[in-house]
Amino acid sequence: MKKNKKLIIKTWKMKKNRKVSYQNRIKFVSGSQDRINEGGLILSKYDGIIKASGLQNAKLGELVFVVRKTGSKISKIFGLTFNLTKTEAGIMFFGSTKNIRVGQRIYRTKKRLTMPVGVEVLGRIIDSVGTPLDGLKAIETKYTSLAEKKGPGIITRGSVNKPLHTGILVVDCLFPIGRGQRELIIGNKQTGKTSIALTSILSQNIDNDLYNRRKFLYCIYVAIGQRKSSVAKIYSIFKNTKALEYTTIVAATADDSANLQFLAPYSGCTVAEYFRDRGEDALIIFDDLSKQAVCYRQASLLLERVPTRGAYPGDVFYLHSKLLERSAKLSPQYFGGSLTALPVIETIGGDITAYIPTNVISITDGQIYVDEELFLSNIKPAVNIRLSVSRIGSKAQILPIKKLATTFKNQLISYDDMKRFEVFDGVSSAIKKIIHRGKRLLEQVKQGATEAINIEAQLYLISLGTIGFFDNFTILETKHFKDDICRLVRTNSSLIDIDIYKNLNLEAWNSKIIKAWKDNSFNI
Ligand SMILES: Nc1ncnc2c1ncn2[C@@H]1O[C@H](COP(=O)(O)OP(=O)(O)OP(=O)(O)O)[C@@H](O)[C@H]1O
Ligand SMILES: [Mg+2]
Repeated sequence: MKKNKKLIIKTWKMKKNRKVSYQNRIKFVSGSQDRINEGGLILSKYDGIIKASGLQNAKLGELVFVVRKTGSKISKIFGLTFNLTKTEAGIMFFGSTKNIRVGQRIYRTKKRLTMPVGVEVLGRIIDSVGTPLDGLKAIETKYTSLAEKKGPGIITRGSVNKPLHTGILVVDCLFPIGRGQRELIIGNKQTGKTSIALTSILSQNIDNDLYNRRKFLYCIYVAIGQRKSSVAKIYSIFKNTKALEYTTIVAATADDSANLQFLAPYSGCTVAEYFRDRGEDALIIFDDLSKQAVCYRQASLLLERVPTRGAYPGDVFYLHSKLLERSAKLSPQYFGGSLTALPVIETIGGDITAYIPTNVISITDGQIYVDEELFLSNIKPAVNIRLSVSRIGSKAQILPIKKLATTFKNQLISYDDMKRFEVFDGVSSAIKKIIHRGKRLLEQVKQGATEAINIEAQLYLISLGTIGFFDNFTILETKHFKDDICRLVRTNSSLIDIDIYKNLNLEAWNSKIIKAWKDNSFNI
């Protein structure tokens, strides 16, 4: 074999000045048909995408490599086969292709891309191929797992029965998310989509840290095509709130190649699946999938795929569905773990009927629609309660909130319908009452960018709100009362009753919280 290799190099050197076609070169470099199948020659390179001839035996999604020699150091640059035709292979390279030359040899590895998985990756920022980006020590894990896998089959799945509390009142009360659900966050640019996703991660801190009563939920945040500074900011938020202890960030920033950005969601999903398959609960955020689709488009165009069903944009449905199918709630026979996905999609001009938004809406189990108009009128988080929906989460919602949610939603919608009449004289007292209460309920819905409210405080607030407790308060007083209740529940564990999951005695709950509030002599 070695002898053969030397001979090949020698022959190549002797003949290198002769002008020959690439196909002929392969024959003449490789010598045997076998070597043509296992290796190839680079024909062209554009922006991270390489086309190579040979590689006849290569499989789709297989790792291939090019040898790079810098001085005395020899290293390998890896890529992934992405497009296979009869005569050539299209390959996505992970890093820079600056040092790769046309005419260079390329080799099969007969392996697929794997990611390091396990608790060792918690607290770290990694890229789409598992390399740490935080400048800390190398990641050494016991296990690795394939980056691209099929979602669990129907037999292995169980039904969603446990809630995932995001800490956002309007979401947990009106559009609840169950563990194993896929809920889309959709909206225009700069409308607070990322903030909703981040709050969901931060709120797990409340559950895990403060009372340590519920099962741990691991979080994976996949940042696609964002600025490095935004990712660094998110990292520092997680670090300062200790959320990093149970979170991994998979980052493919705008500076990275389109290929890495395309791969990031799959790699992140693999990290999250480790927890799901061990019977634990995990949450994954894809921020955002529209940018991933754009990267896929770039790769498709460079590979000269004709835009049809089998390429961009038709293929994007497959791209996103195979990703989101991987989040699931498994049945008890398969350890009962869950992976909840919160994909983010950016709309242009609020158009949720565009191709990619409708795709992802149809794949997911509901959507949280963030409205630019609400955001600009300072109602934040700007969740549009008419266009948002959660299809399965209410099955897992805690009973008292489920009971109150419809009244709460109806009162908010009535307010939304009636608020335009406020400017007119002679409005009936019934309408005035709806507007008066609606304004106070809206105050309960408002939350800071990364401020999470725990579920007990949410229950107290909507319970008091719907019975009209705040009707005698001014709007500012309502806001202060809300802050007091959140603080009280956070610091006083006696206000947390495990019965919250079954107890429907709302009157007892209301008097308990009002008493606690008066005892603490909060001043409004
Ligand atoms: N509930 C909130 N209260 C106050 N400010 C908020 C709230 N939610 C978001 N913001 C602010 O609005 C800005 C945009 O938020 P965010 O980055 O979450 O939006 P986005 O939709 O993810 O934006 P992009 O489209 O750029 O990804 C940020 O400065 C954030 O601090
Ligand atoms: Mg964002």
